Amino acid sequence: MELALRAAANQQRYPQTAQLISQLITNNGRPDFPARHLLDADSNPVPFHRAQDYAYDSTARIVAMLAGTQSGKTSFGPWLLAKWIGELGSGDYFAVTSSYDLFKLKMLPEFLRVFEEVLGLGRFWLGDKIFELRDPRTGEFWAKRSVDRMYARVILRSAQSLSGLESATVKAMWLDEAGQDEFSVDAWKALRRRGTIHKARVLITTTLYNLGWLKQQIIDPAEKTGTKIVERDAHGGEIEVTHNATEDIDLVQFDSIINPQFDYSEYELARRTMPDDEFLMFYRGRVAQLRSLIYDIFRRKENTCTRFPIPPEWKRYLGLDFGGVNTAGVYLAEEPETKKLYAYREYLAGGKSAKEHATDMLAGEPGKPRAYGGASSEGQWRTEFASGGLPIRQPEVSDVEIEIRRTYAQVKTEQLIVFDDLTGTLDQLGRYRRKRDKAGNITDEIENKNDFHYLDALRYIVSSIRSEHKRNWLS
Ligand SMILES: Nc1ncnc2c1ncn2[C@@H]1O[C@H](COP(=O)(O)OP(=O)(O)OP(=O)(O)O)[C@@H](O)[C@H]1O
Ligand SMILES: [Mg+2]
Repeated sequence: MELALRAAANQQRYPQTAQLISQLITNNGRPDFPARHLLDADSNPVPFHRAQDYAYDSTARIVAMLAGTQSGKTSFGPWLLAKWIGELGSGDYFAVTSSYDLFKLKMLPEFLRVFEEVLGLGRFWLGDKIFELRDPRTGEFWAKRSVDRMYARVILRSAQSLSGLESATVKAMWLDEAGQDEFSVDAWKALRRRGTIHKARVLITTTLYNLGWLKQQIIDPAEKTGTKIVERDAHGGEIEVTHNATEDIDLVQFDSIINPQFDYSEYELARRTMPDDEFLMFYRGRVAQLRSLIYDIFRRKENTCTRFPIPPEWKRYLGLDFGGVNTAGVYLAEEPETKKLYAYREYLAGGKSAKEHATDMLAGEPGKPRAYGGASSEGQWRTEFASGGLPIRQPEVSDVEIEIRRTYAQVKTEQLIVFDDLTGTLDQLGRYRRKRDKAGNITDEIENKNDFHYLDALRYIVSSIRSEHKRNWLS
């Protein structure tokens, strides 16, 4: 009943365009293709499963389909995007996935199968990776070249190649695999900016792999004040819908076995043999306490706070991680009475000289913070920064594990608090984790360890100004 009401409200929200897609479909493609169906592996129509139905009917601005592996996410994405284009009409749209490989192997073929072969909505401009939709009133294409104006276009990309889209403003977007490590918080921010003017609708279809921005910026706010409906099917497969009208988000989370195609015994085998946390995330699309997470004791409630003006007498510190491509900085301020450290600013920039970095890093600071940074071998950087006006000390320790342990202790004792608008640092805290071996055991190795510039900067500074707390759990 509730869903039916929402569908009716949706009709009112977009009265004039609802028929555009259907006009186009009858002109081209496979006009006999039934509604609310998608293509199976042999290109036969199969009906949406229950969770796909929920997502299809959602009227929330952001629909996040967080679900198990092979549960029917990528094959569904194009259908909801097509529906939204039908409702929103002429304009620009995005379809973005995490990496170029997934773009080429999964998203693009699935997208073209639906938009070109079944719906016959238009044509693909290969060089620019743009799908042009014909004008539904005339059936004509507007463009002569890929750069010409089009009735509507879907710009298809991987999250790693979003540059060049700065001027696009879109009405809706489909983000596949947004939970992967490769789908960065910067990509998400860039996409969101492109959608602000039209309050773009966003469809996210992904499995959960980490507890980064997707959890922090979509799942957490939705769950905070949202209402939940849980539905079970005959096999015990679960769908959990979290509806949050204030945030305008619907989370549709479900198990792999909700897809009738998914082999039940494989699911049971995974449940029996995988670590619980990974099973929850990979096969059920639910958030788990990831045991492989390095700062697993970091708590949003205890370890973050809203920004406040920092009193001028507080001591300030700066940790730096140098790099030719990116130099990162994390700034800390120390509350005199409690000695609590507040991370209040983050810096990440590339393509600059040490002097330019130094100038930009000091801009807005009341004085020169006590700075530590770089590995022991990076003396040259420190010298260059010093001659650029920012002296930087070599970190006290030169062992990643000890540095992490000292930082961990500060987090655990709530002596390290991060301002909740430091989205880059927070995102990395939710992703920084150790590799697992084939048997699922956690190893010492850090996953993509060179990608965590903020956290490298953070451990340099914290371990230099704080010694280890002697506690049992550290020994
Ligand atoms: N409602 C459905 N009924 C039957 N089969 C379906 C349904 N939805 C999807 N499938 C099929 O299940 C298979 C997996 O679908 P899809 O690729 O969309 O899953 P996914 O969740 O994107 O997987 P991955 O986790 O690998 O990204 C495909 O062969 C697809 O055709
Ligand atoms: Mg997929």
